[in-house]
Amino acid sequence: MDHFHYKNDLLNCEDVPVSELAKQYGTPLYVYSQRTLLHHLAQLQRAFAAVDPLICYSVKTNGNLHICKLMAEHGSGFDVTSGGELYRALKAGVTGEKIVFAGVGKTAAEFRYALEVGVKMFNVESDAELHALGEVAGSVGKVASVALRVNPALPPKTHVKTDTSVKGTKFGLDIDSILEVAQGVADNRKLRVCGLHMHLGSPILSAQPYREGVEKGLVLIDRLRKQGHPIETINMGGGFGIHYRKQEAPPADAFAEVIVPAVKQAGCKLVLEPGRFIVGNAGILVSRVIYTKDSGGRHFIIQDAAMNDLIRPTLYDSFHRIWPVAPASGFPAPPDDYEAEIPGTVKNDVVGPVCESGDFLAKDRRLPPVQPDDLLATFSAGAYGMAMASNYNSRPRAAEVLVDGKNHRLIRRRETFEDLVRPEIEV
Ligand code: LLP
Repeated sequence: MDHFHYKNDLLNCEDVPVSELAKQYGTPLYVYSQRTLLHHLAQLQRAFAAVDPLICYSVKTNGNLHICKLMAEHGSGFDVTSGGELYRALKAGVTGEKIVFAGVGKTAAEFRYALEVGVKMFNVESDAELHALGEVAGSVGKVASVALRVNPALPPKTHVKTDTSVKGTKFGLDIDSILEVAQGVADNRKLRVCGLHMHLGSPILSAQPYREGVEKGLVLIDRLRKQGHPIETINMGGGFGIHYRKQEAPPADAFAEVIVPAVKQAGCKLVLEPGRFIVGNAGILVSRVIYTKDSGGRHFIIQDAAMNDLIRPTLYDSFHRIWPVAPASGFPAPPDDYEAEIPGTVKNDVVGPVCESGDFLAKDRRLPPVQPDDLLATFSAGAYGMAMASNYNSRPRAAEVLVDGKNHRLIRRRETFEDLVRPEIEV
């Protein structure tokens, strides 16, 4: 569920017409709905309430400080994956005990920073990392709390570029050797191995992989405890899918149903690292049509958002619903089924101004007639949209606006040309 809806043939975010936001803040523009963000966080908090989870919002998904701050104010901790994300999480107003630190390539400097601010736990992904962490902890006179990240070797379940738990990816400790690695630090007093972590991939549209993951996790926890490691926490990562096309994602309860009993059985505390589930459907990307053009038997809509603003369609072939902000009469709202014939629509490639044929937001997409200056909304763009935006083609990055009921505020200003060259050493 989200708070973007068409009223009198005009798209609204909560109680604000999106056309007003585009007029005031310009395009391309990311628009976020606060109610939607908080609704999704609350859904997870409720679904997993029986085990009182620590929900660590995954900063990589959308690291805007205002969004992180909102998360912190509503009880969330943070999953960070770099020193930069740790900096953001702290700035958002939480302390180290609510932060978990993931990633395959943490450096000694990042370990030191994280130990200094007392992060709750490091998710450790290799033998080499484990020993490096022990050394840094020793050098600063601290004990590092560790969750070993296991790669549970599950069947493929999502896009190959974001499936992290099939055998042979760079992620986690191989399930066949994790116990050996753990045994190797059983006597290391600088490391406290007190958790088991897994992140299965993203997005996942079924609870089944979590069922398989926790089953393997329970066996490992038992064995790790037998080695003398005080395993107190299961961290099941993130990955919960959202509706991109229609209502394809299971509710939070479906994931809780398989995870909660395992957490109880293990007598553990639960950490989760959701990102997309919270912010994905809470954001849209608003763009303005510049030209339309027919060429080579195809219809093109050239608009002012490009692959540098939203790279997901070209990087993962991912589908985002697109519809005019003020559709021509007779086309009141996006269809439930984009594959179906919609009378009066034609198929378009929705493309941007960047100089690559891979620069598109959608291909072969049925849309009502649009004209230059019309506004388009690209939906479900809150996760990994702005977070993955770049300045490619020297395009200043978009502005971001947060809507709360009738109110709205700029939470990141549009970049300027001066911003583009500022970090470059003066010529
Ligand atoms: N925890 C870990 C260790 C992760 O690697 C990730 C995402 C998450 C949590 C959060 O996953 P979520 O709940 O958002 O699914 N750029 C891609 C997705 C990459 C996901 C990277 N890791 C996309 O746009 O689909």
